[in-house]
Amino acid sequence: MARTILITGGAGFIGSALIRKILAETPHRVVNVDKLTYAASPEALAAVADHPRYAFERADIGDGRRMAAILAAHRPDSIMHLAAESHVDRSIDAPADFIQTNVVGTFTLLEATAGYLRDRPAEARETFRFHHISTDEVFGSLGEEGRFSETSRYQPNSPYAASKAAADHLVRAWGHTFGLPVVLSNCSNNYGPFQFPEKLIPLVTIRALEGRPLPVYGDGGQVRDWLHVDDHADGLLLVLEKGRLGESYNIGGHGERTNLAVVTAICRMLDRARPDPAGPRERLITFVADRPGHDRRYAIDPGRIEAELGWRPRHDFDGGLAETIGWYLENENWWRAILAQRYDGERLGAGPRHRR
Ligand code: NAD
Ligand code: DAU
Repeated sequence: MARTILITGGAGFIGSALIRKILAETPHRVVNVDKLTYAASPEALAAVADHPRYAFERADIGDGRRMAAILAAHRPDSIMHLAAESHVDRSIDAPADFIQTNVVGTFTLLEATAGYLRDRPAEARETFRFHHISTDEVFGSLGEEGRFSETSRYQPNSPYAASKAAADHLVRAWGHTFGLPVVLSNCSNNYGPFQFPEKLIPLVTIRALEGRPLPVYGDGGQVRDWLHVDDHADGLLLVLEKGRLGESYNIGGHGERTNLAVVTAICRMLDRARPDPAGPRERLITFVADRPGHDRRYAIDPGRIEAELGWRPRHDFDGGLAETIGWYLENENWWRAILAQRYDGERLGAGPRHRR
């Protein structure tokens, strides 16, 4: 049955992939609520901007009156809440925006949603879902062994992770105390088209194409558990539609790699696709000062979403990475405009605030 899904942060990397998928593969209507911060990419939605089942509202989730008005106007059947400040390094340089959007913004949206649902018929309240999209970083750092499960202890280490953990707790509390029909998901590192070049995979791809040094924080032995953004979007839709009320689902694709292995793989793939006359790009790898408070290892146990909802990632990391690098090679105009206007690829998160 066609439903109306309100998506916050739909002009971002994951939100835009989710919107493209919903419009292509389901009968649902989408209302995208996005403030259009530096991280937004309206280009990622150009193909659906005029779609008859798509509407866009430029708004800040921290603006309670605007949120109430948007909810009253569009009367969504569900909310998928992705809007956030999402970059760990920026949270080290300037945490205030993270507290404002991820914590206060989430609180404001929860209050607006609770107010909206009070006036809805009982049947609509029953099927409504508030799906909070979160991160594995709330669980902190793993040692050599083990994986994060839904019952892992919360131990956020960066300002970003702490702000997302706070948001998770608020969502759960609004479910428990006020009966808001919530579901949550916590995902590992995503990669794919339209990822903003402050993040490792696009940053290294672009800098390698330009022959610039490739910054590897610390010894490069940190482990991230990579998942293609389209596989994440598949999982999000399953959680929204079939997830148990009040539950959380960990999403990750068995894609553990050290950062150094990822950077090396990017260099080799680029060398094959577009050889550099100056020599193999691995020569550009440069070990730089570590990220303050850097988490050593993340890994997700996706057992619950696999067993309960039948989710399986469709991309293996090497194939997905090659496809993604191909996308960045073909979409140079997109990232060149960002480098020229919004972010030039320089180091973030190691600024004067933290120099001793
Ligand atoms: P992103 O930074 O690419 O996009 C965030 C979007 O939110 C942008 O379009 C931005 O304009 C919008 N936004 C920011 N503040 C807003 C506000 N106050 N009001 C309205 N809109 C606002 O982020 P992403 O990588 O697409 O991540 C989306 C969500 O998924 C986030 O909640 C993030 O914590 C979570 N997540 C991301 C990853 C990942 O690897 N990227 C992994 C797990 C979870
Ligand atoms: O785990 C999920 C999280 O993954 C999401 O919640 C965040 O929104 C998303 O940004 C991502 O966080 P990370 O900090 O892991 O992503 P980032 O791409 O910034 O860094 C990945 C790893 O690479 C991390 O260990 C830091 C390292 N790194 C990063 C950059 C930008 C480098 O070594 N060099 C770099 O230049």
